[in-house]
Amino acid sequence: METKKTKKTKKKASFHAEMKLFHTKNNNSRYKCFKHAIILSISLYFLSSFIITRHKPSTISTTTISRSKPSLALMAENRLDSSALDFKFNGMRIYVYDLPAKFNRDWLRRSGGERCSSHLFAAEVAIHRALMSCEARTLEPRQADFFFVPVYVSCNFSEVNGFPAIGHARSLIAAAIEHVSSQFPFWNRSRGSDHVFIASHDFGSCFHTMEDRAKSEGVPEILRNSIILQTFGVKGEHPCQEVEHVVVPPYISAESVDATLKSSPVNGRRDIFAFFRGKMEVHPKNVSGRFYSKRVRTAILRRYGNDGRFYLRRHRFAGYQSEIARAKFCLCPLGWAPWSPRLVESVALGCVPVIIADGIRLPFPDAVRWADISLTVAEADVDKLGGMLEHVAATNLTAIQRNLWDPRVRKALLFGDTVEEGDATWQVLVALSRKLDRSHKWSRQELLRWKKT
Ligand SMILES: *[C@@H]1O[C@H](CO)[C@@H](O)[C@H](O)[C@H]1NC(C)=O
Ligand SMILES: *[C@@H]1O[C@H](CO)[C@@H](O)[C@H](O)[C@H]1NC(C)=O
Ligand SMILES: *[C@@H]1O[C@H](CO)[C@@H](O)[C@H](O)[C@H]1NC(C)=O
Ligand SMILES: *[C@@H]1O[C@H](CO)[C@@H](O)[C@H](O)[C@H]1NC(C)=O
Repeated sequence: METKKTKKTKKKASFHAEMKLFHTKNNNSRYKCFKHAIILSISLYFLSSFIITRHKPSTISTTTISRSKPSLALMAENRLDSSALDFKFNGMRIYVYDLPAKFNRDWLRRSGGERCSSHLFAAEVAIHRALMSCEARTLEPRQADFFFVPVYVSCNFSEVNGFPAIGHARSLIAAAIEHVSSQFPFWNRSRGSDHVFIASHDFGSCFHTMEDRAKSEGVPEILRNSIILQTFGVKGEHPCQEVEHVVVPPYISAESVDATLKSSPVNGRRDIFAFFRGKMEVHPKNVSGRFYSKRVRTAILRRYGNDGRFYLRRHRFAGYQSEIARAKFCLCPLGWAPWSPRLVESVALGCVPVIIADGIRLPFPDAVRWADISLTVAEADVDKLGGMLEHVAATNLTAIQRNLWDPRVRKALLFGDTVEEGDATWQVLVALSRKLDRSHKWSRQELLRWKKT
């Protein structure tokens, strides 16, 4: 127990050192953190050169690598990968491009920069951070299966309404691809198919907030071969998912959830029957033929606005998480897009999510058995919501709450600063490790040939 704790503290300390460096201008200094890895690689390098020149592989078989018959090729591979013995994620390795600051770090330094790493689209920052210190990362691109391109597109907050303006997203990503494809050989080698991007806003890889525009423009041509981690997901076909992709949860700060849990009687009484706080238009506006939430939120307000069982609020309130922690059922109706940060907040705070978004595809279905922890109500059935929830409350609510309270479920939907077993970035790595058929990593022969030159 003691050693585990010390290890954790150490890990945290080195992570903080790393993050600090991550934010400094001098990118080279970041590599100091990997000094031990580099030293190990260098010693293995000398060792393998020694073996190759002397042709005496038997001398090292017991001392260095605990394999019964080490081949030259394996030795060469070990020179490049100090942790080749680690078979987690099927041995997958990810290279994180060190892009110029304008693509990522600069956004954190602007005014409102903190919001960039904490708002609901912040998975683009969180995954990048976690990958920087994760075991699957390699500093040697020649041995990477995947290439992560860290571009923050959701951090250009509008001065008018505070929402992220993502009009620049396509050009920013195109510029990043131009950069990596001219500086490195890997983009051209695979035409981008082993490159990974994040699209964490409303319509994911379409980079538009309005569905009609998103659909008509589709996934940018330049990204169509790549892998996109996106919050958007629906069953069936949709132009915004015509690309290899993984559905990821929206970002909710684990610290904020922990703080709410600490100050709430979570396992105590939940005095709110059904909760929703957020935009509900009384007279929905017709925005070029579309209505916010397909008017579902308006229907809920009309039908249940004066119903004592329903706690519905239209205005922002900073302490809304404490309301979620007091509620039995939390309504998660669609907005412009089907997904909502409420899904994650409800799960994390033990309130049964009531998903009202026809055809939505939810994140990490292998890790989170959504059918056991949530309810799904068709958009057309919101008028019957009261009766449906009463029925569940009288029959299986306790069972659902028990499933929901499984710590593994909560963990899978939250991103941490480092990758921890079972957390959201971990789930991303699991999903990527199932796509290793896209890897263009060099064969051992190619590695050896490269090593000789
Ligand atoms: C941020 O968004 C605004 C409004 O869409 C745009 O005019 C501006 O060029 C964007 N900034 C950058 C740095 O792309
Ligand atoms: C990749 O291809 C582009 C377009 O053909 C070319 O401009 C670029 O120089 C190539 N990159 C490398 C590293 O060779
Ligand atoms: C919404 O506006 C569009 C024009 O932008 C119009 O064609 C459509 O009939 C309107 N729909 C409703 C229900 O008012
Ligand atoms: C709870 O009951 C509802 C309504 O009868 C049903 O749809 C749902 O699948 C049940 N959930 C679980 C976890 O038993």
